[in-house]
Amino acid sequence: MVSRIGILTGGGDCPGLNAAIRAIVRRADQHNIQTYGFRNGWKGVLESQAKQLTISSTRGLLDRGGTLLGTSRVDPYREPDGIGRIREALDVHRLDGLIVIGGEGTLAATARLSEDEGIPVLGIPKTIDNDVAGTELTIGFLTAVDTATEAVDRLHSTAESHNRVMVLEVMGRHAGWIATYAGMAGGADAILIPEVPFDIEAVGRHLKHRAGSGRDFSIVVVAEGAEPVPGTLELAETPKDEFGRPKLGGIGHTIAHEIEERTGFPARVTILGHVQRGGSPNPMDRVLATRFGVKATDLAQQGEWGHMTAYVGGVVRPVPLGSVADGLKTVPEALYRVAEVFFG
Ligand code: F6P
Repeated sequence: MVSRIGILTGGGDCPGLNAAIRAIVRRADQHNIQTYGFRNGWKGVLESQAKQLTISSTRGLLDRGGTLLGTSRVDPYREPDGIGRIREALDVHRLDGLIVIGGEGTLAATARLSEDEGIPVLGIPKTIDNDVAGTELTIGFLTAVDTATEAVDRLHSTAESHNRVMVLEVMGRHAGWIATYAGMAGGADAILIPEVPFDIEAVGRHLKHRAGSGRDFSIVVVAEGAEPVPGTLELAETPKDEFGRPKLGGIGHTIAHEIEERTGFPARVTILGHVQRGGSPNPMDRVLATRFGVKATDLAQQGEWGHMTAYVGGVVRPVPLGSVADGLKTVPEALYRVAEVFFG
């Protein structure tokens, strides 16, 4: 019988994490399961830092951004005796298993822990990037789309007043979900995403063509991880963060500069950055996080370890954690082609 579970949030934060934590604690209580929260993702597990979470300690969380538990990008496979220390934390706190709320990186490690080490774990997918395979939606994505769409809408009026090209850079390291959705929702004139290498010459031509037909302002939405067609444009070297990952952000400046050079139109840049990760989750993310939290807790209670909760065709269901290893979920070409109908 399952009587104690641990939870953690790993990777970049996003709106909706607290709603998932609240849902787990509430559902666990109904199953007479005690919930322990680890601080700062896998870091807290490796340090065995857990605290009991109760209904009263998780009240008022539904609409709060960030994560009550804190998060980190620590990967147990890169830490000395990481696996041994996870087993020890489970022993010390007498936990039957762990629910891990994470993005692609955190969940890939979680899948290995399940498959290679036989550790009882479950995953809940979250990331504003929406790039986790096996689920149509991840917690945080729809709120980030709201934020980015509002930015496109606001840029529209100032672009129009000044006859400018406005370049909006949004997050999206390997996948351009936010750029595609916010660009479509806001009526962008060009959307540049990592999945479809862009030709800056063609973007310039396209904006000139648009101006030729009397529309003398434009909105270009670019995902931070967008890439030029090889040999068409040199991007600046990206510095690395403390985990050795490229620290993205800034491609918008290059795009704006190149557009000015090629068209002579004045361009301005907005880099939305972490604004997309902060703040209160929208109703869709609150509901998604709640459904994922309840489902994951039910799976824990049934001892159905080794799964991730997934949203597929409107239904929340378990998929094998290994689905994450199928690679990233990128924007399908067919969707991008629909967005493209409205370019220019
Ligand atoms: O969590 C995903 C993400 O938001 C990416 O889109 C972005 O590149 C990255 O996190 C930024 O990470 P950090 O906050 O560690 O700089």
